[in-house]
Amino acid sequence: MTDYPKTCRLARRTLASTVTLALLGCAFVGTSQAQQAKIKVGMMLPYTGTFAPLGVAIENGFRLGLQEQGGKLGGREVEIVKVDDESDPAKATENINRLVSRDKVDVVLGTVHSGVAAAMVRVTRESGTLQIIPNAGFAPVAGPLCSPNIFRTSFSNWQSGYAMGVEMARRGKVKNVATIAWRYAAGEEAVKGFKDGFTKGGGQITRELWLPFPTVEFQALLTEIGAAKADATYAFFAGAGAAKFLKDYDQAGLRKTIPLVGPGFLTDGILEATGGAAEGVETTLHYGDGIDTPKNNAFRLAYAKTFKLQPDGYAVAGYDSAWLLGIGMKAAGGDITRRKELFGAMEGATIDSPRGKWKMSPAHNPIQDHYLRKVVGNENRVVSVAVKALDDDPSMIAACPMGK
Ligand code: PHB
Repeated sequence: MTDYPKTCRLARRTLASTVTLALLGCAFVGTSQAQQAKIKVGMMLPYTGTFAPLGVAIENGFRLGLQEQGGKLGGREVEIVKVDDESDPAKATENINRLVSRDKVDVVLGTVHSGVAAAMVRVTRESGTLQIIPNAGFAPVAGPLCSPNIFRTSFSNWQSGYAMGVEMARRGKVKNVATIAWRYAAGEEAVKGFKDGFTKGGGQITRELWLPFPTVEFQALLTEIGAAKADATYAFFAGAGAAKFLKDYDQAGLRKTIPLVGPGFLTDGILEATGGAAEGVETTLHYGDGIDTPKNNAFRLAYAKTFKLQPDGYAVAGYDSAWLLGIGMKAAGGDITRRKELFGAMEGATIDSPRGKWKMSPAHNPIQDHYLRKVVGNENRVVSVAVKALDDDPSMIAACPMGK
């Protein structure tokens, strides 16, 4: 209803006679205009800072998904309003309020950083604005803070960490692991996931190292890693910070002596910037290079042609967000206010994704395969499926009342 004049809305509620509405010039601007006006999508993503390449990939993916639907969702054209959130939690409340209250967007697409996402959901849970999260794996969003109007198309941070924990434990020969991560929600959850998967299989965490986001002063901690002599190092970093970590780890002479593993964020979208320093690093994620399906091959070709870039897991989540929204808008006949139809279709959708088909959990988080990948040249080459159809952290599933 964004473009339906306020006077008409008021008149409709109070007077409701066709004659009165016509006198006010409202007769031809009812539901049909609401359905014909452009649907406004607020993109709140990082375009500067360490996560900037992730924001760009998500936007590109979304635009490609939209283009493949003829540029329309539920028959309505789309207007995109962009905000650079800078991955800065301190600016997040003001940024999301600008989109929701000033720009009056119909949908919010965002974001990457869990701390920013936490501030966003505080607002969208209150306003009821449809929010699609195309990255931030912030656990409570699909736990105690789950909400009918909030959907995630990416992962929970726990999921990507857990898959690597299971994989390491399965190998048997890896008994002790040191962890290193940025200390904020995402790092803590990615380490918890790893720990849950690894210790369940008999592994031990020997050292937990932390540094504040987005610091990249790794030297002192790399010295500690060298001294700890664990069987492997598990690291959570992403974007430009991850590229720096991979180079520093290699330069410290650790890559060949203590194998480095992590959730896929450690190596996604940044391999060209590492100049070979990540060769052999193993990670787990919902996507990877070399998934040989017609859907993925077509996606990769279209993405490379459109943006002159190779897609990654971030681009896939952006792309799937456009399709998820398209499915919802179609079921709602283009009327975003028909929430029952909109949310119902999004909840029940099977997304035919480049990553493979996936469905939403009752808490609105993807239930999906997690791949084991290995860096070969500039590729995160898929080696196997580490965990099939992985749902979320059981403690988060239990804390979300939806679907129960
Ligand atoms: C997060 O903050 O949840 C986050 C950020 C970057 C990633 C993954 C997760 O690559």
